[in-house]
Amino acid sequence: MKVDVLLGLQWGDEGKGKIVDVLTPDYDVIARFQGGPNAGHTLEFDGKKYILRSIPSGIFQGGKLNVIGNGVVLDPLLFKQEAEALAASGHDLTKRLAISKKAHLILPTHRMLDAAYEAAKGAGKIGTTGKGIGPTYTDKISRNGMRVGDILHNFENKYNAAKARHEAILQSLNYSYDIADLEKEWFEGIEYLKKFMLIDSEHVVNNYLKEGKSVLAEGAQGTMLDIDFGSYPFVTSSNTICAGCCTGLGVSPRNIGEVYGIFKAYCTRVGSGPFPTELFDETGEQICQIGHEFGSVTGRKRRCGWIDLVALKYSIMLNGVTQLIMMKSDVLDSFETIQACVGYTMNGQEMTEFPFEIDDSIQPVYVELPGWKTDMTKMQSEDEFPEEFNAYLTFLEEELEVPIKIVSVGPDRAQTIVRYTDN
Ligand code: GDP
Ligand code: IMO
Ligand code: MG
Repeated sequence: MKVDVLLGLQWGDEGKGKIVDVLTPDYDVIARFQGGPNAGHTLEFDGKKYILRSIPSGIFQGGKLNVIGNGVVLDPLLFKQEAEALAASGHDLTKRLAISKKAHLILPTHRMLDAAYEAAKGAGKIGTTGKGIGPTYTDKISRNGMRVGDILHNFENKYNAAKARHEAILQSLNYSYDIADLEKEWFEGIEYLKKFMLIDSEHVVNNYLKEGKSVLAEGAQGTMLDIDFGSYPFVTSSNTICAGCCTGLGVSPRNIGEVYGIFKAYCTRVGSGPFPTELFDETGEQICQIGHEFGSVTGRKRRCGWIDLVALKYSIMLNGVTQLIMMKSDVLDSFETIQACVGYTMNGQEMTEFPFEIDDSIQPVYVELPGWKTDMTKMQSEDEFPEEFNAYLTFLEEELEVPIKIVSVGPDRAQTIVRYTDN
């Protein structure tokens, strides 16, 4: 068997958590391969809502094995809070969740460094989630990181050395902080981690594949936040693209199967950085309010705009997407017309490829399509789709050259329409 990968194609928050949960019954293993608690993946079913940060979204459907892979960065304190909240609501994960010994640990001082670097950047700040993601990956790449497996041997010495190194940097940045309480809770988190299966996940995942078991890899963030190909430097610190699944789980590129690319029927972004189709008018505000576009972890208001096909084509190319999944189409149910960006102009020049640099001189070129003006939230099958909505799907499929296999018409698990396989 091969690993199927589900990835966000925009700037994150596309609805990955919801769809991983929907697809979970088809898989034996669900695995996260990058990112960390900067993610906030929302799932809704049976009138309940859950927001997952580090724990894969496959934990609610049957006894599937969920894996936190080596490419993930894990904060034991936040992990404990997340897992304990789930246990309190009847979802004990200790037998169903395994963590790679090679996943890197987010230390309390990594969080401080994240805040200090952002403060030092002033107006040019990235608008990070403040979870210590960048500094943790920095330590990994500079070969100074601490890994989950380290908690089993000589841990205190390694911790103190890393902390001292971070404190010297914080001092040089004149950043004042107090981590006494945080540190105490963090060490409780370290003890808590020991209750879980700490594994060599690359062996476990590959053995499963050999046995004919199916694996779904759950991306975090989105392609436009990828460290190499996103809108650098306004990106996260990991490879969010499909290639990140190979390094973040230890899976060969030859063992990648389906690549599900997930996108909203419009577009959002949270934090700083370029966003060519951003709307600053009433329409943008309407999308934000109808779509409840506020960060699931930070509560920050998400910037909203029209769908950007230039960026989407770029994402599809980088990931080798085989199937598309369109989310939140219901948010556009009341709109008279829908706009889709099919190109950009920069200094009078037209471009259809995502450029190296995006500045304020970039202007989107839009195509206008009629809205469907129909409440789609209770629809069960594509037979019920209004004509204008079908026209929007056909337009997107022709532009993007990949079939849209699933359409989501509301946040609930049940509000998901799988299209006929021959479309
Ligand atoms: P993720 O990070 O990609 O998992 O996405 P988030 O959970 O951060 O953000 C997606 C938000 O949209 C969540 O609040 C979901 O409950 C919600 N959502 C998901 N799909 C739909 C949909 O089809 N329609 C509507 N209205 N909301 C949706
Ligand atoms: P999910 O998985 C949306 C953004 C931050 C910031 C930039 C860098 O829920 O889609 P970081 O804390 O990673 O150093 O922040 O990336 N960002 C996200 N935006 N969804 C996410 O995750 C994000 N994770 C990080 O807002 O602009
Ligand atoms: Mg999210």
